[in-house]
Amino acid sequence: MKSLIKKRVWSVIITAMMIVVIGGMTFFSNGQAAMTKDFTLDRDAMTKYILATVRAARTIYSQSVLRKVKASGMKTSENWVKEDHAVMLPAQYVKALGYEIQGYELSLVGTYPLYKSNQAKTPMEKEMLTRLASGKEKMLTFQDGTQFKGMSADFAISQGCADCHNQHPKTTKRDWKKDDFMGAIIIRMRG
Ligand code: HEC
Repeated sequence: MKSLIKKRVWSVIITAMMIVVIGGMTFFSNGQAAMTKDFTLDRDAMTKYILATVRAARTIYSQSVLRKVKASGMKTSENWVKEDHAVMLPAQYVKALGYEIQGYELSLVGTYPLYKSNQAKTPMEKEMLTRLASGKEKMLTFQDGTQFKGMSADFAISQGCADCHNQHPKTTKRDWKKDDFMGAIIIRMRG
């Protein structure tokens, strides 16, 4: 009689353990599937996450880092490499991040870019710049031929943006003003 109860107890314990193990495995694999979906299958969401992160990095650089740099007597300069007491501009910071990345392209694109490298590369990119210029959407993702791309709008948030671009030797536009749409941070994924 005692051994029968023991057996029953054991079978209950073993069944309970199996439920926990199998349940756990199912839960874990579902979790994995959800992560895979978010981070590898949904290019739209992934591209937006990256754009948001780059924007945040540039904001921290422009506001927190540069404030201290300037307070210490140094300045920002496009020729910062050659100058002893200068650091890179925020635009150069974004492009520098891009040079470090191998899996996809991160750069800037402008409506009247200072450099050819910042020109829209396809008619679709031009069209998307026009859409962002309306100010209705802050970020766009789109398929462009074999590449998936994302753009995050860049407006002249201060007169400083406009002034520097107006005075730049390479500029083709000298009447930028505060709040103008200037271009975008762009991500080009490999096809
Ligand atoms: C002190 C000068 C300076 C200031 C201030 C400045 N920029 Fe620029 N910006 C540049 C230079 C130089 C480049 C080109 C960098 C490169 O491609 O190497 C550039 C590039 C860009 C581009 C890419 C298209 C292009 O014109 O080549 C955008 C968009 C842009 N800046 C927006 C802004 C915005 C928005 C602000 C203000 C928040 C701003 N810039 C402030 C100098 C400046």
